[in-house]
Amino acid sequence: MADMTVPWSIGGVEIPSRIVLAPMAGVSVQAFRRQGRRFGAGLVCSEMVSSCGLQHRNERTLGYLRIAADEHPLAVQIFGSDPAPMAEAAQMVVAAGADIVDINFGCPVRKVTKTGAGATLLDDPELACRIVSSVAEAVTVPVSVKMRRGLRNGSRTCLDVGPRLVDAGASVLTLHPRSAQQMYTGTADHTLTAELVDLVDVPVIASGDITSRARAQAVLATTGAAAVMVGRGAQGNPWALREIVDGDSAEPSREEVAAELILFIRETVRELGERRASGFLKKFYGWYLGHGRFPRPFKQEIVQLHSTEDVVTRLLAAAPGAAELVARLEAELPDPDDDVLLDRLPISVYGGG
Ligand SMILES: Cc1cc2nc3c(=O)[nH]c(=O)nc-3n(C[C@H](O)[C@H](O)[C@H](O)COP(=O)(O)O)c2cc1C
Repeated sequence: MADMTVPWSIGGVEIPSRIVLAPMAGVSVQAFRRQGRRFGAGLVCSEMVSSCGLQHRNERTLGYLRIAADEHPLAVQIFGSDPAPMAEAAQMVVAAGADIVDINFGCPVRKVTKTGAGATLLDDPELACRIVSSVAEAVTVPVSVKMRRGLRNGSRTCLDVGPRLVDAGASVLTLHPRSAQQMYTGTADHTLTAELVDLVDVPVIASGDITSRARAQAVLATTGAAAVMVGRGAQGNPWALREIVDGDSAEPSREEVAAELILFIRETVRELGERRASGFLKKFYGWYLGHGRFPRPFKQEIVQLHSTEDVVTRLLAAAPGAAELVARLEAELPDPDDDVLLDRLPISVYGGG
């Protein structure tokens, strides 16, 4: 049985456990990443960040580069289809504090693929390699690539492209072995992950359908992957990470659930502001309060509330013991002023002057 707490390394960056928290657009905010680290993820990743957005200094895109002191090691993921802006974006994310630059060759969503980015690049290995090599030349930190098995169902493109991306400069590959066409249907075919592991001499991270310790152990044992990545299984459920790390399958109490959710709400409001956060958080209410933890009418009531402060008040009324737990968790967090502030980044990177 693989020990999930054995450290491993990506191009010299030490990763303290064999669990990686997946990058998820609309989910992987700072609060999600920090929580993931607290519950045992050895590496966390930002959601995908547009290289064009960074190039044009789009304010919302720059906001994705806000990194807290307790997130490291952290990968920031970038996407785009043009080597030069991708290299510039990589330098910006490193200046913001990323330990690893991750490149997205897996996004199946049309908004991204129609620009020639994401999974589309698997069908243009020459351009994909040029992107990886220009990013690798632009930064001193390790570069990773996350990809799907290919574009169409049954595709084995990842086995052809993967080794070429390593030759181009990737220090680690993450494989989500579904096709782009599949989106999230069907299952992840980790026999491909095993084949990829045999073909490359860099660590491979296995992504897809890892929701329990048993599944994580089985995938590590049958593929030879260095680590597993957990995505949907950790949504509103950091306890799944704890179970995968050390087998602790104790269900959290209502107080614990409410406390984690309250902390999550407060941190997200700090990061996104009340207006954006209140809409963003609604899906998290369902994720946290589900799993039979709270009655369905309670969940429905929470989702209807207008302000996040009302949600916190209602949660505290339902689980009064949560207040003390939140205070304890907040006391352990680093000072928010330790965040990388965008105006502290080098002027050259932000095109100042
Ligand atoms: C809501 C959502 C958003 C995602 N966003 C990204 C993303 O920004 N970048 C990326 O590489 N993968 C993204 N993914 C894919 C996940 O990282 C992961 O590979 C996939 O969900 C399979 O793992 P899972 O079965 O553990 O969820 C996303 C997945 C979901 C469900």
